[in-house]
Amino acid sequence: MTLHHMMNRNVFINIFMFLSFVFNSCTAHSWRNKSYVDDLGQRCEPSNHPFSLCKSEAAAYGYPCEDHTVTTEDGYILSLKRIPYSVSDGANSTNNTRQPVLLFHGLMVDSVSWLLGTPKESLGFILADGGFDVWFANTRGTNSSRNHTSLSPNDPAYWDWTWDELAAYDLPAFLQYVYDYTGGQKVHYIGHSLGTLIILAAFSEQKLLHLVRSAVLLCPIAYLSRTKSKLTRLAAQILLAEAFHFLGYHEFNPIGPVTHEILLLICGDPEIDCYDLFSAVAGPDCCLNTSTVCAFWQHAPQSTSIKNLMHMSQMIRSEGVRRFDYGSTKENMKHYNQPRPPLYNLSSIPTHVPMFLTHGGQDFLGDVPDTRHLLRTLVRRHDSDNMEVLYVPDYAHADFVVGFNAPQLVYKPMVDFFQRH
Ligand SMILES: *[C@@H]1O[C@H](CO)[C@@H](O)[C@H](O)[C@H]1NC(C)=O
Ligand SMILES: *[C@@H]1O[C@H](CO)[C@@H](O)[C@H](O)[C@H]1NC(C)=O
Ligand SMILES: *[C@@H]1O[C@H](CO)[C@@H](O)[C@H](O)[C@H]1NC(C)=O
Ligand SMILES: *[C@@H]1O[C@H](CO)[C@@H](O)[C@H](O)[C@H]1NC(C)=O
Ligand SMILES: *[C@@H]1O[C@H](CO)[C@@H](O)[C@H](O)[C@H]1NC(C)=O
Ligand SMILES: *[C@@H]1O[C@H](CO)[C@@H](O)[C@H](O)[C@H]1NC(C)=O
Ligand SMILES: *[C@@H]1O[C@H](CO)[C@@H](O)[C@H](O)[C@H]1NC(C)=O
Repeated sequence: MTLHHMMNRNVFINIFMFLSFVFNSCTAHSWRNKSYVDDLGQRCEPSNHPFSLCKSEAAAYGYPCEDHTVTTEDGYILSLKRIPYSVSDGANSTNNTRQPVLLFHGLMVDSVSWLLGTPKESLGFILADGGFDVWFANTRGTNSSRNHTSLSPNDPAYWDWTWDELAAYDLPAFLQYVYDYTGGQKVHYIGHSLGTLIILAAFSEQKLLHLVRSAVLLCPIAYLSRTKSKLTRLAAQILLAEAFHFLGYHEFNPIGPVTHEILLLICGDPEIDCYDLFSAVAGPDCCLNTSTVCAFWQHAPQSTSIKNLMHMSQMIRSEGVRRFDYGSTKENMKHYNQPRPPLYNLSSIPTHVPMFLTHGGQDFLGDVPDTRHLLRTLVRRHDSDNMEVLYVPDYAHADFVVGFNAPQLVYKPMVDFFQRH
């Protein structure tokens, strides 16, 4: 039975027709009125910034910043940004003994999310000030990484990937580039959310270990079956991503018209509180400043592939961390030469890799039960000298990246950890 057979074609077409018919521009208006930004009681001014980490965020505070491009084995031309030293380093700028750090963003954002606050608040600046050579990855499909050696984002084939490919192509391409560029220095890795899943996946296959000095996992995501987000769960249960794939969509643009339809569909459920959309998906953040949230909405929402969302929703529907499921024995045989998608065996991650894992009590995605499951898999066997776990009870998903008190609560212990490893 294929995925397409599993779904009743007519049901989805009906839903879609219904949505297109009912939700005219008038309803669209009232939806926008309920958006997160308005809810803060302050409207965010439209941004005139060029959409670029270097040209907007880094330049605003006088930090040096470089644009690099990296081409993956499967042809994606990705943007990698670098803040090589701090604004205050001046004369010491040629000091090349700085240890490289690679920051890897999560789903539906890009590297700008590491620099949304002031230099005292934002991890990218804090690391540069702390003496590190800071590199920022931008995954395929995000604003600055949409070029390809032979495809265009208008081609369905451009979007034929999930986080399997981020782990297999984007991540190694970035790490290898930074390693080579800095003269063979092993890289400290910091991933948030999806950025943690891909490195766990690579490590579980004994890959990239020679390039990584230590790994920081902010809101690690691996097991998703117990997510606390009703919204996410519902989307997974009604095979929403699958439906849109079936209807011929390939790119998921969080601020585009397709998303609009999806939101309207989900938010019709009275169980779901869509008033505060971001919280409905990621949990109630405790510690965001309005200015940072505005900056987030101006810069951050970024495209991903519908196929990637299908993969994520497979993880919500079933236990275990596996490759993308093509939905039938026959298709899986074709891609993997086995009836079920291969497992990423997280228990086989080498126990000596230094890891700093931090998670929040209010996080709906990196929720406590799923994270406990991950910890049981990882920590119990891990060398205790090489594993540090930091639990922040009040934090939800975004607090770890843009929380105003993250510098004291999370980044300080993280930098201390780097200094020991
Ligand atoms: C919000 O709704 C009011 C009417 O209820 C309308 O006048 C206004 O233009 C809407 N604002 C936005 C941003 O859609
Ligand atoms: C350059 O580095 C030296 C040694 O670490 C330090 O004493 C000096 O203050 C630094 N200069 C600047 C301008 O940061
Ligand atoms: C270079 O940077 C390292 C790490 O920040 C520092 O320990 C060292 O003193 C610096 N060297 C010079 C010559 O500034
Ligand atoms: C990137 O973002 C800017 C500003 O929002 C926009 O003008 C531009 O079209 C975007 N580029 C791509 C390739 O999406
Ligand atoms: C995209 O990459 C190609 C090389 O494959 C290059 O010729 C082209 O200039 C790039 N386009 C942009 C917008 O950077
Ligand atoms: C962010 O909010 C905190 C707590 O309300 C406040 O102390 C801090 O000054 C704010 N920072 C900025 C840049 O607005
Ligand atoms: C996963 O790896 C662990 C440790 O190497 C091993 O004991 C276990 O049998 C593996 N599980 C599967 C399903 O392959």
